[in-house]
Amino acid sequence: LFSAIEMAPRDPILGITEAFNADKNPAKVNLGVGVYYDDNGKVPLLECVRKAEAQLMEKAAPRTYLPIDGLAAYDKAVQELVFGADSAVVQEKRAVTAQALGGTGALKLGADFLKRFSPNAQVWISDPSWENHRALFESAGFVVNTYPYYDASTRGVNFAGMLQALETMPAGSIVVLHACCHNPTGADLTEDQWTDVIRVVASRGLIPFLDMAYQGFGDGIDADGKVVRRFADAGGPLFVSNSFSKSFSLYGERVGALSIAAVSAEEAARVLSQLKRVIRTNYSNPPIHGGQVVATVLSTPELRQMWEEELAVMRVRIREMRQAMVQKLKEKAPGQNFDFVVRQRGMFSYSGLTKEQVQRLREEFSIYAIDTGRICVAALNSRNIDTVVGAIAKVL
Ligand code: LMR
Repeated sequence: LFSAIEMAPRDPILGITEAFNADKNPAKVNLGVGVYYDDNGKVPLLECVRKAEAQLMEKAAPRTYLPIDGLAAYDKAVQELVFGADSAVVQEKRAVTAQALGGTGALKLGADFLKRFSPNAQVWISDPSWENHRALFESAGFVVNTYPYYDASTRGVNFAGMLQALETMPAGSIVVLHACCHNPTGADLTEDQWTDVIRVVASRGLIPFLDMAYQGFGDGIDADGKVVRRFADAGGPLFVSNSFSKSFSLYGERVGALSIAAVSAEEAARVLSQLKRVIRTNYSNPPIHGGQVVATVLSTPELRQMWEEELAVMRVRIREMRQAMVQKLKEKAPGQNFDFVVRQRGMFSYSGLTKEQVQRLREEFSIYAIDTGRICVAALNSRNIDTVVGAIAKVL
């Protein structure tokens, strides 16, 4: 059985972490994976999480199975966060939310669900997109295409190209959109551009699948979540995957959710019943701890306030690192213009570094980035930024 199995390539993102972990150089820096580190180079344990965990420890509750679709208090809190507690879709009980194993798990549930009920549809992802989008939808059995997105000449969005592609997709096509903090480019649509996208998606009968893994890392929790609410208000089927890996610094707890907006409460009930079958045949029901932590924080006013403040600290520090990087590059690489780095949103900078330059960073300086030139600005800190900028200036 195994003799003919070929070695699989390393994962383009998590494979970088594997290589980083194996590197013995004490000055190594991992700018690959999308993980936020504080200025001491540590993944933070948020204070709101610590407090919620202390409360949960105090209760010492038994670890029974959760319902198939997860902790009810979590699903409710997440749905209200994603759509807004006062939104029509929540008020009219047209939305279903199921706890999922991180954002990736939510995407996979959505993909498997769609494959069951829309088997002949094709999937469209942005060019470029998060590396795992294509693999994930292909492994669910879909043909995955790309729509134009990034314009390297402007370091922004090729919006005319994107809109034209949307206008010519067959009805029923599944369009994966990044709700905020586009991964990997950091180039987001403007509100007006979203208006056009929402209009075309509705008029062509496309199925929008919004991936929101970085809520709160762009302009704030509400600002970043606005596009989801706008899609929901427009009516029609809508899929939203969201993740608390980054915004709660709960990477290893695998805590996210899939929300689906339907047109009526009765339709939503049928959707949920089928979604539960997808979950049951994948992993039965989700783990309890991360969901309890997030539900506790979101539903306790004092902890929620604390979370919003802690998330703002992360957001602001990333912005400061962007500014520092641009400033330092001006000094170290005077011929180059990196001003675009401060315009990009979220954890990443699509730096424009070539694959060869990224390889040199890795081999000569133990600085790890994604081959596409994506670097995680959230991994820069006041101690490693000079080394990183110095190395970038040398490979340019
Ligand atoms: C990333 O893009 O680096 C993150 O979303 C982590 C991952 O799972 O790829």
